[in-house]
Amino acid sequence: MTDTLDRDLAASPTATAAVEQRRRLVTAIPGPASQRIHARKVAAVAAGVGTMLPIYVERAGGAILVDVDGNQLIDFGSGIAVTTVGHAAPEVAARVAAQVAELTHTCFMVTPYEQYVLVCEALNRLTPGDHDKRSALFSSGAEAVENAVKIARRFTGRDAVVVFDHAYHGRTNLTMAMTAKNMPYKDGFGPFASEVYRVPMSYPFREPAPISGADAAARAISVIDKQVGMNRTAAVVIEPIQGEGGFVVPAEGFLPAIAAWCKENGVLFIADEIQTGFARTGAMFACEHEGVVPDLITTAKGIAGGLPLAAVTGRADVMDAVHGGGLGGTYGGNPVACAAALATIEIMESRDLPAAARRIEAAMLPRLRALAEAHPSIGDVRGRGAMLAIEIVRPGTTEPDAAEAARISSACHQAGLVTLTCGTYGNVLRFLPSLVIADHLLAEGLDLLEQAVAG
Ligand SMILES: Cc1ncc(COP(=O)(O)O)c(C=O)c1O
Repeated sequence: MTDTLDRDLAASPTATAAVEQRRRLVTAIPGPASQRIHARKVAAVAAGVGTMLPIYVERAGGAILVDVDGNQLIDFGSGIAVTTVGHAAPEVAARVAAQVAELTHTCFMVTPYEQYVLVCEALNRLTPGDHDKRSALFSSGAEAVENAVKIARRFTGRDAVVVFDHAYHGRTNLTMAMTAKNMPYKDGFGPFASEVYRVPMSYPFREPAPISGADAAARAISVIDKQVGMNRTAAVVIEPIQGEGGFVVPAEGFLPAIAAWCKENGVLFIADEIQTGFARTGAMFACEHEGVVPDLITTAKGIAGGLPLAAVTGRADVMDAVHGGGLGGTYGGNPVACAAALATIEIMESRDLPAAARRIEAAMLPRLRALAEAHPSIGDVRGRGAMLAIEIVRPGTTEPDAAEAARISSACHQAGLVTLTCGTYGNVLRFLPSLVIADHLLAEGLDLLEQAVAG
């Protein structure tokens, strides 16, 4: 094979040659071995922990998953935007193995270690803005969002938190309150945390009439003003491109206008970049596309190449407003996760993965647009970098067609391509390939998608 990824992998000291970068189906999906484990899963694992595609993965490398039946699937999901540097990236695997042999845990709040400090230094350097910053590390995205809200309330002395239609911020009690969609995230799980207020998002495809980013921001601000009160508002929390809500890219000017209003009114602008961050959208952070500098930014997912790590980074005066001992957690900033993050960040910078995301966009967008031209069931094509989506509708309308989206996604799975759905209406197919995916796998994945859409 002569594509870029295979050369990259071959050049690496612990090449993932063990996982050939090739799709290969040897059974139906899921195969018999997966089905046997799945029967045990149903008997052993709580029913609420769903699985979208019950192939049981044995190994993974680059952009290929290998299941227990020996099937090799192309991964356009990356564990929901986590394995941005590829599955089992050799540099990450080597750093993690070395770290495990040396030190796995002390709890940073008890006896600290340098890896935590190194990750915070990297976050302070990489996140938007060249002001003085501080970071704190956690274990999951929801935990980072919870802590960003704690910090914002402590700093401002205000209670109210503003979030948007279609938002997703996690599954803990506060982040369920901040998340928009009821089913499956909230149904039956209340009562939810108070002082969370939802305002209209800029969702260009679903606006009743075209509206500029500035006007959509004014619409949201008016709701904050009338229904919440700016003097009560600690923070506005927003995903610069919404993830679970449907890869909603707000109209140009929306984010800067919201950020400017926050600045004028002493409200903190918190960018939830848990899905968009770390090179995914063609910039290290999605806020950068419109020059927005958040007061606080939450990160997770792509930060550590598959290990659980999350962070809040932001203005030093805001972060340091919290009293000693007010932030933390037993596992937050675990040394193994930190080692993985340091290796991941090194790969992202040395291989310029934001540029790789832009190349993926340049390869995928024209093909997705051509597909939409040919199939009126695709109502919208959108996204940035390697965070792209198609929204499925009843032809000629904007009426969501979740059943058709599920059919297409399932046809992709049967053909050996892992795709994910999302969206408030469940009708969006989203694509989150690894940024080191080989050109031939990207092209083949798009071929399979085309065939699936055509039915
Ligand atoms: C934007 C955003 N915020 C928060 C979260 C929650 O992260 P976690 O699942 O790690 O708690 C997610 C996860 O999908 C997310 O996409």
